[in-house]
Amino acid sequence: MIPESFIQELLNRVDIVDVIDKSVPLKKAGANYSACCPFHNEKSPSFTVSPTKQFYHCFGCGAHGTAVGFLMEYQGLSFVESIHELAQMVGMIVPQETRDSEKPSAKVVMGLQEVLQQAADYYKAELKKSPRAIEYLKARGLSGKVAAKFQIGYAPAGWQNLQSVFPHCENEALNVAGLVVENEQGKRYDRFRDRIMFPIHDQKGQVIGFGGRVINPEDTPKYYNSPETPLFQKGHELYGLFLARRAIRDAGRALVVEGYMDVVALAQYGIEYAVAALGTATTPFHITKLMRQADEIVFCFDGDNAGRTAAWRAAMNALPALTDGLKLSFLFLPKEHDPDSFVREFGKDKFESEMKAAMPLSQYILRHLSENNTLQSQEDKVRFLNEAEPILQQIKAPRSAMFLRKKIAELAQLSIDEMHSLLKLPNLNQTPVQARPKLSRTPSSLHKRFCLMLLMQPSLAKAGDLLWVVGQDEEAQLLRHTIETCLLHPHSKPVVIMRALETKVDAKLLRDLARDLHLLDETLDMALELAGARQQLKQIYAQQSGHVLLSQLSEKPLSELTEAEKAMLRAVGFKTLAVKPEPK
Ligand code: UTP
Ligand code: MN
Repeated sequence: MIPESFIQELLNRVDIVDVIDKSVPLKKAGANYSACCPFHNEKSPSFTVSPTKQFYHCFGCGAHGTAVGFLMEYQGLSFVESIHELAQMVGMIVPQETRDSEKPSAKVVMGLQEVLQQAADYYKAELKKSPRAIEYLKARGLSGKVAAKFQIGYAPAGWQNLQSVFPHCENEALNVAGLVVENEQGKRYDRFRDRIMFPIHDQKGQVIGFGGRVINPEDTPKYYNSPETPLFQKGHELYGLFLARRAIRDAGRALVVEGYMDVVALAQYGIEYAVAALGTATTPFHITKLMRQADEIVFCFDGDNAGRTAAWRAAMNALPALTDGLKLSFLFLPKEHDPDSFVREFGKDKFESEMKAAMPLSQYILRHLSENNTLQSQEDKVRFLNEAEPILQQIKAPRSAMFLRKKIAELAQLSIDEMHSLLKLPNLNQTPVQARPKLSRTPSSLHKRFCLMLLMQPSLAKAGDLLWVVGQDEEAQLLRHTIETCLLHPHSKPVVIMRALETKVDAKLLRDLARDLHLLDETLDMALELAGARQQLKQIYAQQSGHVLLSQLSEKPLSELTEAEKAMLRAVGFKTLAVKPEPK
């Protein structure tokens, strides 16, 4: 096995023009070289070789590839033989990769993903070394088994621990990942100090962020979370989902709770299908995500007032995501309990039987609307209708909506037709059954343009570019991977970047990109083009995040917004960010 880094280095060193010219004499034609295509019969040359891109491409038959590909196609060499042949040409020695030495020394800058995983490993190892942290977890009743399952770790006290973990501690990925914070004097220090660390995983099981709980009760805030990054958007991710996914499928049910500790405690007691929103209200994205795995979702928040507020907010945020096949219900715990303490005191069976008796969403809505409203006077009924209207407006699931409308009309002592003539409600026949929150798609040509310019000149990529790309769609991922790869290989030729992207990006997307790359006019001012594309993309993404964030903004105190979020919000025109008191 030849190390990938060697192949990339080799492709950077060889000149495809020399390689091909040996077999097929090339003529200079503008920025490129051309010849009659060796892969098909032709009279006028449509085979071109680009020294800047380091690709060959035939406009006649579509043949294209790298120097390696050329040797394979033209001389019929195997891949390994081609590599050896090329190495010989430029005087490099092909190293043999030992399978388990997976520590590439040439990798100066690590990607976000690697940095987070390495930090998680570090925190986990530190937990083993800290009797105090272990004692804390024990005192809270955690078993070693469940701590290991959730990969719980410990960030030791001290400001500069990560420096010893990451040899290249100037690595910008550490900042972007939110592991290291920079003060105004440019001094960098660890964000998480003396905290129990809960790694947050995405659905593929990759670490995308952390929650850190204080051990010392005097420290604040009690929980500190990673900031949002291109990999981690709180409104989209749920703590524990990766580990819970099997259990959710098996149970046909997901339980949504508020805290990290709730998820962990429930799992320890055998309720393995619990997940938690991450210090934000549950969003329609959360609901939609869970709905893909189960058709029953139970919310169980703390029994205190803050928990009740959170429950109502969750109910309201779920409305746009409701479908007729989904059963949503709410379990209200006694005031002094949260799911953690409840399951510890009463156990799994009691918890599950409580869950069976949980209050269905419709009943919760009706109860909430008629709380503090006796519906006696005309004024009471008017107020009732006023409060019901925005709720009914958001429910698009036809059957659920109709039953709730009927019930509300009855309570207001109106016929359903009378109510419909009064309230502005969506026509249930016309709305699609699966009304899901949608984000505007961005034009793909712009994405491609940006990537192409980066491919041509990878040194133009900035780590900051990773901050504004949000979302998980293919295009956002293409952008993100291209940016990350360019950051890793700032002085590489396009061919090398393309090669590095092969393992990360969907093949079709990459073919598309390759085609455009071949056609790209290399006399363009890449820096200028890139700056233009960057500016436009930033705007589009700021708008996108704006849509998502907007729905969460009213839930979030200003102090919790990350700088990136604030910048995004400003970009979509929020000048004053309303501050709401925190519920707890
Ligand atoms: P709670 O304050 O209810 O904590 O916050 P908890 O889950 O019961 O934790 P323990 O039992 O005291 O350890 C619930 C969730 O709200 C978020 C966290 O996600 C937490 O798990 N939170 C809370 C924060 O983000 N920051 C805070 O300062 C507090
Ligand atoms: Mn708790």
